[in-house]
Amino acid sequence: MAIDFLRHLAKITLFAAVLLTVINGCNSRNISYESWEVYKGGPEANNYSALDQINKENVQEIEVAWSFYPEDEPEDFKFWKYECNPIVVDGVMFLTSAWRQLYAIDASSGKELWSFDPLEGKRGGGVLRGVTYWEGNGEQRIFVTAGNRLYSVDAITGKADDEFGYYGKINLDIPQEGRTEPGDVKLSTPGIIYQDLIILGCAVSESSGAAPGYVRAYNVRSGELAWTFHTIPQPGEFGYDSWPEEAYQYAGGANNWAGMSLDLDRGIVYVPTGSPTYDYYGADRLGSNLFGNCLIALNAATGAYKWHYQTVHHDIWDYDLPTAPNLVTIKQNGKSIDAVAQPTKMGFLFVLDRDTGTPVLPVEERAVPSSKIPGEQAWPTQPFPLKPKPFARQAITEQDIFKLSNESYEYNKRIINELWHEGIFTPTNHEGTLLIPGSRGGAEWGGGAYDVEKGVLFINSNESPEVGKMEKVSRSMAEGRKTLYQTGKKFYLTHCATCHGDEKKGIGVNPDLTDIGQQRTSQEILDIISMGSSIMPSFTTLLDGYEEAILAFLSETGKSQVFENPEKDQDTTTVTLNTTAHGYLLDSLNRPIINPPWGTLSAIDLNTGDYLWKIPLGNDLRYQQPGDPPTGIENYGGPVVTAGGLVFIAATIDSKFRAFDKENGALLWETQLPGNGLANPAVYEIDGRQYVSIAVSIGEDFNHTKSGMVTFALPE
Ligand code: HEC
Repeated sequence: MAIDFLRHLAKITLFAAVLLTVINGCNSRNISYESWEVYKGGPEANNYSALDQINKENVQEIEVAWSFYPEDEPEDFKFWKYECNPIVVDGVMFLTSAWRQLYAIDASSGKELWSFDPLEGKRGGGVLRGVTYWEGNGEQRIFVTAGNRLYSVDAITGKADDEFGYYGKINLDIPQEGRTEPGDVKLSTPGIIYQDLIILGCAVSESSGAAPGYVRAYNVRSGELAWTFHTIPQPGEFGYDSWPEEAYQYAGGANNWAGMSLDLDRGIVYVPTGSPTYDYYGADRLGSNLFGNCLIALNAATGAYKWHYQTVHHDIWDYDLPTAPNLVTIKQNGKSIDAVAQPTKMGFLFVLDRDTGTPVLPVEERAVPSSKIPGEQAWPTQPFPLKPKPFARQAITEQDIFKLSNESYEYNKRIINELWHEGIFTPTNHEGTLLIPGSRGGAEWGGGAYDVEKGVLFINSNESPEVGKMEKVSRSMAEGRKTLYQTGKKFYLTHCATCHGDEKKGIGVNPDLTDIGQQRTSQEILDIISMGSSIMPSFTTLLDGYEEAILAFLSETGKSQVFENPEKDQDTTTVTLNTTAHGYLLDSLNRPIINPPWGTLSAIDLNTGDYLWKIPLGNDLRYQQPGDPPTGIENYGGPVVTAGGLVFIAATIDSKFRAFDKENGALLWETQLPGNGLANPAVYEIDGRQYVSIAVSIGEDFNHTKSGMVTFALPE
């Protein structure tokens, strides 16, 4: 113990000395495409690396240089999704574990330097995609979020910075002023640094009663709030009249959960937002709902509004802007235009002028269907970019229907024909609407990789149709005298079955819950249900009063106990919910209903808006027919493009990590990871050796027991 401590101390001192030498030599740090000091490779979120030691000629030779499996994740607690994109500063990698502990490790060997546990042994909720580094006046800090707090940690010692906020942390909950509901806030994507500010979005619940997703900036030393931008405008603010008068007091969401991009020279932060809540129902928030589903340009120093572009008016499809946009430069008629390229879940790419927000590639406002839900008013038009063409399917024709046999084809056709679909932006109705793309995209939070030399954007995408079915759900489930079990079952079938299946056996990436009662304590289960985790939404407000009932159903108990909850019994109010939200549209044997590809990778020349190539990403051997191309597969996480001519991407749920030729999409290298690489790779160099790191989630079949970071390099 004592020796261990001394060794640790020696390591810290040595490390501090090295870091200080480097830091004394340079006061202001220019972000270069050769380092990975910021989430997604830099403030421009371009997922680009200028390193070329690993290239088309030698990529086949790369091998695992080191792996790091954090020790904190308990054996019996298995996270399905570990989405961290680590950062590397002066040879040190900073990452969070799936359990949400912060680590500093030697980025050339994977050896641990220190760790910091923000939650002091408690479970970390949800996902966290990385951390933020800041330095100034000879000080270096790492900012990490956990629960609803932001922590400032000394990058050298791994100790909380006591000068920051309250003993090293600040509470991020949105103030209650004038609002009736709690302002619970978490973060899934790291904040971004501008001068001495850390700018943060937030993840909030997606059901009614969610907090409003204000954008805020805090002083990095004191933790004091520097500015707030109201994404749901208050009286007198621009955009207020795009909502009902009182909405600013009850509407939630319009939050930035997906990260931001920053133009350091212009001092502008580009903030993409999600939809207002409740996701699929907007009768209580009629109007276009600024700044929901907007790309907002703000003065990074003051938070002052510069411009916005709304990609979905009055969103009733959960088409959140899912990723930080890419800061790109387009050549048009011999002129260079600085632009911002925003990928979307709809499969559209909006390319806008960085100074004004006007489309650089043409967009057309088109009429879309009206809603059939009483009280709902879908916005009459929506913006359709004419170029580039969508990178995801937005309709299902007869040729798109999956044909494993004549019988399954006819079945699939019938299912699809029964659903309402008049193009993308068909509102959800009571009978069932076909949503394609579904809420999983299109694009997701991995975003695009932009080749700064060639002006090409690489973007991965899901092809995942979904059903939208609105139902009036009574807040009281106690019609007649029901058992705890029956009440829990009803709650489950209403809110959980689309993802975990009618029989709790799980579907796709949504886990099997049949043994959950043995695997987790009641408190852990309730925490997950109320906080949500990765794609699973939080059920805080809905769960209230049904805790025992849902636990009884999940653990197959409470079959003779009567559900008693006088408060709920008398609650006669109803809510209109999309009860099939975020599920998969599958056939009766849980197979895909549309043709492959189910996941794709596209290369788009942004100067022309034309596609250079598009390929299926990933493969599902169960369905690949002899002689056919790979099927493509569901994917989360994004690509990195390098000056070595490569596009690196894992993301697929077939546990592969791949490198493609950026010029033509040819597969040059692939390897089997110990689990799914549901993250963006990080590319960096130390002492002349190039490394590529990818976070690996626990395998779906639990064939390895931990999530961790796996790093590749050429043999020494
Ligand atoms: C949109 C799809 C979706 C819905 C709806 C959903 N879940 Fe989940 N659930 C998931 C996913 C995905 C995970 C895995 C989360 C992770 O990897 O962090 C999960 C994880 C869980 C876990 C933890 C499982 C484990 O093995 O650790 C429990 C318990 C759970 N869900 C219960 C519920 C209950 C109860 C409901 C309904 C109130 C529900 N879920 C609704 C997608 C969903």
